[in-house]
Amino acid sequence: MGNKILIQSADEVQDFHDPEIAKILQDMKSTMLEYKGVGIAAPQIGINKRIMMFGFESNARYPNEKPVPFEILANPGFMPLDNEIIYSYEGCLSVPGIRCQVQRYNNIKYTGYDLINHVYIEKTVSGFHARIVQHEIDHLNGFLILFRTDKITSASFESELK
Ligand code: NI
Repeated sequence: MGNKILIQSADEVQDFHDPEIAKILQDMKSTMLEYKGVGIAAPQIGINKRIMMFGFESNARYPNEKPVPFEILANPGFMPLDNEIIYSYEGCLSVPGIRCQVQRYNNIKYTGYDLINHVYIEKTVSGFHARIVQHEIDHLNGFLILFRTDKITSASFESELK
């Protein structure tokens, strides 16, 4: 947090077969795994492109959440399916050690270009899966959890929440 790339709107990926993408994906994945994230967006490793990945079987940072299938998406988008909003404590690898309650749509449809299978996808999801997608798309639009939350007084160090 504080790096300007994190408050910018990232550029669309023009060429899904650009050989540079493979290296970016490697860096993103190793960073996400090293810091035990459930997702990561390219701006978080200093790359101003609309690329994000997410998914886990089990995760130490979110031990109570059910698995989310691993996906890598370029140029993603989402739309809410209704007005149901859920607040939950959310963290971010770019805001280390801090969580805050963030309001997210519970039910969404999302789209994007799947960089693993090289097809456009469209999925309907709920709950934590929907939360991660909204969080990572926020990164591509220059929003961090502290700018997004409408409950800023919920911001807490992880050590205090324990
Ligand atoms: Ni994040």
